[in-house]
Amino acid sequence: MKDVMILTGAGQIGMAIARRIGFGKKIVVGDKSLKNAETIAKIMNEAGFDVTPMEMDLSSRESIRNLIDEALKYGEISMLVNAAGVSPSQAPVEAILKVDLYGTAVLLEEVGKVIKEGGVGVTISSQSGHRMPALTPEKDELLATTPTEELLSLEMLQPENIRDTLHAYQMAKRCNEKRVMAEAVKWGERGTRLNDIAPGIIVTPLAIDEFNGPRGDFYKNMFAKCPAGRPGTADEVANVAELLMGPAGAFITGSTILIDGGATASYYYGPLKPQE
Ligand SMILES: NC(=O)c1ccc[n+]([C@@H]2O[C@H](COP(=O)([O-])OP(=O)(O)OC[C@H]3O[C@@H](n4cnc5c(N)ncnc54)[C@H](O)[C@@H]3O)[C@@H](O)[C@H]2O)c1
Repeated sequence: MKDVMILTGAGQIGMAIARRIGFGKKIVVGDKSLKNAETIAKIMNEAGFDVTPMEMDLSSRESIRNLIDEALKYGEISMLVNAAGVSPSQAPVEAILKVDLYGTAVLLEEVGKVIKEGGVGVTISSQSGHRMPALTPEKDELLATTPTEELLSLEMLQPENIRDTLHAYQMAKRCNEKRVMAEAVKWGERGTRLNDIAPGIIVTPLAIDEFNGPRGDFYKNMFAKCPAGRPGTADEVANVAELLMGPAGAFITGSTILIDGGATASYYYGPLKPQE
């Protein structure tokens, strides 16, 4: 029996990572859009991979468990790649918190219970998590350790404390980083590792929705004025995943790697710094 990779999110970033490290594995890909999952399954199966598509909703624990149960039918789970998510221009505040914040936390928890020794996981947060001022240590700890079913009841996540969808997205992505730290401790007890990648602007359907959305000019300015002077590609995110998930990354766990062409650096100390 082959080892199994669970891939959530049949988007460009998820597919690029799966193509880079999914050889020789059974890949079970879950996406809210079965069509998206089927599309990448076809592309990858025609390129020598072994991919089974499934419909799944990251915001539902039942749906996550269902995906894991299906994956376990093929063998032991040795890899998790979570690249499912919704962006600020794609969904309202509530959906962003339910999918990107709560759903990610549940997925890391549930896969953490079953992943085999030596297994590795990676989740995708965002540079957006680095664009807010630091939260208090108490708030960080709440995001890291609050039991998953209580997360969405945290006061800081209530509608009166969330300004708009961008703020919801930033909080979700900050939470992803904190959750990865706390979960990596538990994953370590099973001899497994878990990390996070925080990408800047990567050209994918999600980013294209942002370019065409209400903050389009803001995004285009961001990549024009970042040190790299361009948006990134999903394959460049896969470069980082390959390091984190392979033997060269054996000492890396509980980490977030920022890959943003320097946009965050410029936001704090360069031309992208917000004007007072
Ligand atoms: N593209 C960027 O510029 C960028 C930057 C930073 C972070 N990210 C993050 O990368 C991840 C992947 O995004 P992408 O750019 O590859 O986008 P994408 O649009 O190519 O893929 C995202 C996929 O997630 C799926 N999805 C949405 N809601 C879901 C749900 N509830 N359950 C299951 N699947 C769901 C979508 O159907 C889609 O197939 C997201 O978490 C996103 O926030 C993207």
